[in-house]
Amino acid sequence: MNFKRKPSKAILLGGVVALVLMGAAAAIAWAAGAMRPDYQGYDLARPWFDGRSYPFYLDMFNQPSLKPQEEGTLQEFPQDSVPRTGSEAFIEATALVGGQLQRDLEPLNPTKATPASIRRGRFIYETYCSVCHGLAGEANTPVAQRGMPAPPITGLIPLLSEPHLYNKALYGGPLMPPYGFQTTQQDRWDMVNYMKSPQFGQGGSQ
Ligand code: HEC
Repeated sequence: MNFKRKPSKAILLGGVVALVLMGAAAAIAWAAGAMRPDYQGYDLARPWFDGRSYPFYLDMFNQPSLKPQEEGTLQEFPQDSVPRTGSEAFIEATALVGGQLQRDLEPLNPTKATPASIRRGRFIYETYCSVCHGLAGEANTPVAQRGMPAPPITGLIPLLSEPHLYNKALYGGPLMPPYGFQTTQQDRWDMVNYMKSPQFGQGGSQ
């Protein structure tokens, strides 16, 4: 084959005419509204979301999922496509229902202080608490040195009750952040078992 041969003028002209005709047809179809998607008031000058319902903004919302306030059951979804168990909901320390505080002031520790529980608790403490209070609870941390008023807690722990420590981790304090989002019930009781064990204050795993 001779690749160097130029296309004939007739073919070039035919191509140009075909493109012009296609453009004209598209313009006519657009003007007639046949090609225009139904954007329900989409404003080219202000293409950001302005509260109106645009089909393309709703794509992620309109999935096979239960909408807020929608009746139905997660059981109807294909098996294992949605989680059906879950963790406890986080209820704020100050949440009131009918004037009643929702916070359990005296939660009971259901977890025995076994070596396994204490080992897990140490891991949780070192993950979430040691950054401020220190591995041994002495608050000799860069975070505390730079102004976070986290107190040394090693000597304090024996004076504090298990429910208090559990709720402290769950809800935090006036300055301490809550760790109820990051930790499970089991995590917090294991942590209480660790803080109450003779291992706490020994310097942690480092
Ligand atoms: C971001 C830094 C920070 C982290 C992380 C932190 N704390 Fe605290 N903690 C504080 C501060 C600040 C205080 C003192 C003021 C307050 O209670 O809000 C405090 C006080 C305490 C006290 C003593 C006061 C009391 O009310 O008992 C205990 C016990 C305690 N924290 C336990 C924990 C435990 C358990 C964790 C991990 C779940 C943790 N802290 C994580 C900053 C922190």
